[in-house]
Amino acid sequence: MNVTGYTLDRVDPKALPEAEQVALARLFQRMSQETVPEDPERPLDAILSRIRATSANEWHAWVRARDANGNVVGWVATSRSLNDPENPHVAWTELQVHPDHRRKGLGRALLAEIVAAAESQHPELLFMGMSNDRAPGGGHFLERIGAQPGLPMKTNSLTIADVDRAKVAEWAKLDPPGYRLERVDNVVPPNLIAPFIEAANAINDMPRGNLKMGDWKLTEEQIHDRESWLKQIGSNWWLLVAVHEATGEGAGFTEINNDPKQPWVVGQGGTAVARAHRGHKLGLWMKAVMLDRILRDLPAATYIRTGNANTNAQMLGINTDLGFKLAWQSILWQLPIADAKTAVGLGTATAGAR
Ligand SMILES: CC(C)(COP(=O)(O)OP(=O)(O)OC[C@H]1O[C@@H](n2cnc3c(N)ncnc32)[C@H](O)[C@@H]1OP(=O)(O)O)[C@@H](O)C(=O)NCCC(=O)NCCS
Repeated sequence: MNVTGYTLDRVDPKALPEAEQVALARLFQRMSQETVPEDPERPLDAILSRIRATSANEWHAWVRARDANGNVVGWVATSRSLNDPENPHVAWTELQVHPDHRRKGLGRALLAEIVAAAESQHPELLFMGMSNDRAPGGGHFLERIGAQPGLPMKTNSLTIADVDRAKVAEWAKLDPPGYRLERVDNVVPPNLIAPFIEAANAINDMPRGNLKMGDWKLTEEQIHDRESWLKQIGSNWWLLVAVHEATGEGAGFTEINNDPKQPWVVGQGGTAVARAHRGHKLGLWMKAVMLDRILRDLPAATYIRTGNANTNAQMLGINTDLGFKLAWQSILWQLPIADAKTAVGLGTATAGAR
């Protein structure tokens, strides 16, 4: 699928010459500005470290679109985990076109290339991608190509300057009897692998809407893959695991990321409490202990951002207590490869004519 004036090619971003990596990083910088205009400009070195990092046990494909001057104006990336047996069909996908180059057919052309690249990956491959209401064209595009909305989500943001520090300090001392918190920085020690996995599996109780996704079963190998990726990009990962003293079981966890190259933003990752341990305020306690540490140890942090399903009342309740407010609304979309092929003219009906 050609779009006049543009060149599309399949690339491995890690293997590109530095000048082309920088050209790609500039597109990502522009896209971040569209979604989070309240943030400082994302530093190129933070973006480049992600472009250059290797993820173990994943299949990837990438397609870029350049204009006649060699500027990268469009990009699509898709990846599939090779060590998540419950979800071998899920292809996490990100499609981006520079705002000055939209509505010329580039989005559809990039999709056509990535569909062709993913063809033999899985018979029921399911592309998953996220749109948000700060760039509403994404949702219109996805609707147009026949993607199905799978899960509406909120990105909530906590402005650190507004935090009620006294309340957080009080919640951080809740100390529910019978539990202790283990603190992990960047690498999970061998004695906490099993409790972390037990706690992390509780994330499967999270609402999944209409998403055709199996349970997420964390493994030791996946933990090490993630540690390696975070080390390569130079991001800190702080984890708290709540351990049930009587049994040694992992009862809950919460985690955050912070990259010193973009120190203003803290990403609040997963938080979950295993069913058998709910009702003891473990969720609020863990989040308050983490927040208390952020307030002390990350003085350059301005915002903490986190994504929650719209229907996740318990987690949204804790976040509201902590002072999180809605920043933007997102939708996680899904598109089976058969429908994607039809949308870009590669479906069975047209394949014979090609
Ligand atoms: C989604 C995105 C990649 C689309 O790129 P694009 O090059 O403008 O897409 P196309 O020109 O191929 O559009 C194909 C069709 O989608 C629909 N569409 C695209 N943008 C639209 C908009 N803003 N409003 C209404 N319909 C739209 C139209 O039907 C369009 O065909 P038309 O222009 O002939 O009417 C671009 O808007 C973008 O980068 N958005 C931000 C990132 C994002 O949300 N990505 C999607 C999730 S991964």
